[in-house]
Amino acid sequence: MSDLFTQATHRGFGAPIRAETSVDDCEVVGKIPEDLDGAFYRVGAEWYYPPKYRDDAILNADGYVTSFRIKGGKVDYRGRWVQTHRFEQERAARRQLYGYYRNPYTDDPSVRDPKRPNLRTVSNTAPLAHAGKLFTLKEDGLPYQIDPNTLETKGTWDFHGKWKSETFTAHPKLDPLSGEMIAFGYEATGLASDDLFIYTIDKGGQVRHEVRVKVPYVSIIHDMAITHRHVVIPFGGYVTGEQRLKDGKIHWGWDETKPSYIGVIPRDGDAKDMRWFKGPERCMMHTFNAHTEGNKVILYAPFYDSNFFPFFPPVDGSPFNPAKARAFIRKITMDLDSRDENYKEEILWPMQVGDLGKVDPRVLSLPTRYLYTAYNDPQRPYDQAASGPGAPARMTNCYGRFDIATGKTDAYFAGPTHNLQECSFVPRGRGEEGDGYLVGIASNYAEMRSELIIADAQRLGDGDIARVILPFRVSSQVHGVWVGAHELPLR
Ligand SMILES: [Fe+2]
Repeated sequence: MSDLFTQATHRGFGAPIRAETSVDDCEVVGKIPEDLDGAFYRVGAEWYYPPKYRDDAILNADGYVTSFRIKGGKVDYRGRWVQTHRFEQERAARRQLYGYYRNPYTDDPSVRDPKRPNLRTVSNTAPLAHAGKLFTLKEDGLPYQIDPNTLETKGTWDFHGKWKSETFTAHPKLDPLSGEMIAFGYEATGLASDDLFIYTIDKGGQVRHEVRVKVPYVSIIHDMAITHRHVVIPFGGYVTGEQRLKDGKIHWGWDETKPSYIGVIPRDGDAKDMRWFKGPERCMMHTFNAHTEGNKVILYAPFYDSNFFPFFPPVDGSPFNPAKARAFIRKITMDLDSRDENYKEEILWPMQVGDLGKVDPRVLSLPTRYLYTAYNDPQRPYDQAASGPGAPARMTNCYGRFDIATGKTDAYFAGPTHNLQECSFVPRGRGEEGDGYLVGIASNYAEMRSELIIADAQRLGDGDIARVILPFRVSSQVHGVWVGAHELPLR
């Protein structure tokens, strides 16, 4: 085995575990609410074999899916590799075969195929449940279907041959009223292509509408938003091109001279209906939610001022600037009646936040009151000595509920040695927006183990109701989702 696993980034809490694990009847501190019946799925990335390049992106590591099945106050945990085509090739060769993030020109000759870049997806970004099926997603390939109970990989899914993009976003949106899924693929017709395909899939999983548009320039289009009338497509800053890839560079660079864009198109619109609103330098990764008011589209999103990823370097040769990688909760307005080609932006809270935000899924596409995301509160105690070597300089120590109506924030604090990953919202009963639980994984640096936090979303300041203790570390998640027992054939 290469010495790459001895690098600092692959030591300590982030060291690869490389094992598939399951624990039935997990240890629980506190009491799991009796009304919780479903599964919390997470997808993340971990290197099975060390990366070929030391400066590669962690986003290029192999996909790993985990589940916490919760029912009757009991919890069963499972973790498995996503058995992608790429993972199978690597395991058969018993070594790393793949080069830089989304650059097939840097792959081993035995698997190099720049005409079919989606064969090298690691499916490591987000879980999705729709029309009774569970998937893992990554924006450079097709979804992989996963057995919701065993987490066994069943293969790629192309919606009965009707999904024509070579790629599928990690962030499709589910309309809570119609049950429809709106999704897109960018670089839809091959490496660095400027094609963006947008689809509506009905609640039964059938493709109902497709629109094909061109993007102003080829960039990461990571997330989207929907309203009851519109589809919203934000991006900015990252650039790529065929020559860059043939030169053997990582897929993306950052170009601070590029404007950001937010595309708005009616839900059933044609390509000619797409309107691109423009703005300043922004790194637009994730959204909270959007809605349409009259002829204005309002988007809430925790966008960064500039490049967030050190491994996607500036194209002008300047060093990565961490001081500009700051995310704020922004309210962005696009006025469809105005001839102004620019969007309007307002920062709602002056504090920096984590950009993996959530809302109650019952209000997706509709007016929203509460936004949820993780952040660092420097006023909270941090026991760095007890957190051991490799602990971050500052912990993501809080989950916040940000109330748009009042400007008030409520916070859950995980503890002085705990680093929080993205939270997910669990709706409770048929309640109002915000009635439910927040769930998410905390990395306990003192005990070197992972803990599932369950907190009442309306009483975050009271602390957690229950913690599910895993006797080991689990690989870091990118995204997670709560899926109720009525949504999947769960045992
Ligand atoms: Fe994401």
